[in-house]
Amino acid sequence: MHPLHTFLLFHLLAYLGRSADGSEIMNGEPAPENSMLYMASVQDSKGHLCGGFMISEDFVLTAAHCDECSGITHVVLGTHDLKSVNDDNKISIETHFFKSLVGSGNDIMLLKLSKKVSLNGRVQTIPLPTSVMNKKDDCQVAGWGYTKTNGTAVDVLRVVNVSIINLEDCKEQWGPLPDNVICAGGDKTGKGFCQGDSGGPLVCSGKAVGVVSFNMNNNCDYPNVPNVYTNISKYLPWIKKILKQHNC
Ligand SMILES: *[C@@H]1O[C@H](CO)[C@@H](O)[C@H](O)[C@H]1NC(C)=O
Ligand SMILES: *[C@@H]1O[C@H](CO)[C@@H](O)[C@H](O)[C@H]1NC(C)=O
Ligand SMILES: *[C@@H]1O[C@H](CO)[C@@H](O)[C@H](O)[C@H]1NC(C)=O
Repeated sequence: MHPLHTFLLFHLLAYLGRSADGSEIMNGEPAPENSMLYMASVQDSKGHLCGGFMISEDFVLTAAHCDECSGITHVVLGTHDLKSVNDDNKISIETHFFKSLVGSGNDIMLLKLSKKVSLNGRVQTIPLPTSVMNKKDDCQVAGWGYTKTNGTAVDVLRVVNVSIINLEDCKEQWGPLPDNVICAGGDKTGKGFCQGDSGGPLVCSGKAVGVVSFNMNNNCDYPNVPNVYTNISKYLPWIKKILKQHNC
């Protein structure tokens, strides 16, 4: 196997299974009630698995590794509080679209919902980047994941500010990384994601620029190394193609 595959499988597999799933927001705070209305909780019959976000009336973007070994069945939209889940805010999933196998480094997945959701004061979409983002942008990451290593998922969405880290500096700490990633937070800041936050968005200037992908050995007790996200800009042609093909 290619060394990069082995590397990715090792770090991504750390997210798998309910006991070690995803990632949690570290040193964040509850997301204000009327913010981040694009957030989705990606779930199976037992509840929250991963984050995700609405990019159209019937598509949620999330991480590909969220589907490994687990049967995602639905998303929950329109609430920050996963205790207030009901039949109205649970939407079943019609199809999954992968760019390729997770081990190849494309940790991105589109979920097509079984129906179009009406956008309103509770549910909104988030725009994707259109041009190169200014690296100095202040960004945020949100999720329902753990708040400490080996913790438990939370009921109410949490959010934390993070800054993008230069990719070359990030590679010096991580060693080889896939090409299509963004590094942000983690490291010495003490702020970032943890298990259960996987699939959520890195939001910079109101646009979803990254997807929560992996951290080092499931460790959320920063400092260790920066957090790694999938760089959405690299997948815009793929995303547009799928949305266009399935827009009827
Ligand atoms: C993400 O990919 C785009 C398109 O290749 C690139 O312009 C941008 O610099 C990348 N973002 C980061 C933070 O590396
Ligand atoms: C988390 O759990 C793993 C596996 O049980 C263990 O090896 C590790 O030491 C734990 N870490 C902390 C900080 O509790
Ligand atoms: C996060 O960043 C935003 C925008 O830069 C700022 O308004 C807000 O006060 C910051 N929050 C915290 C907790 O630092």
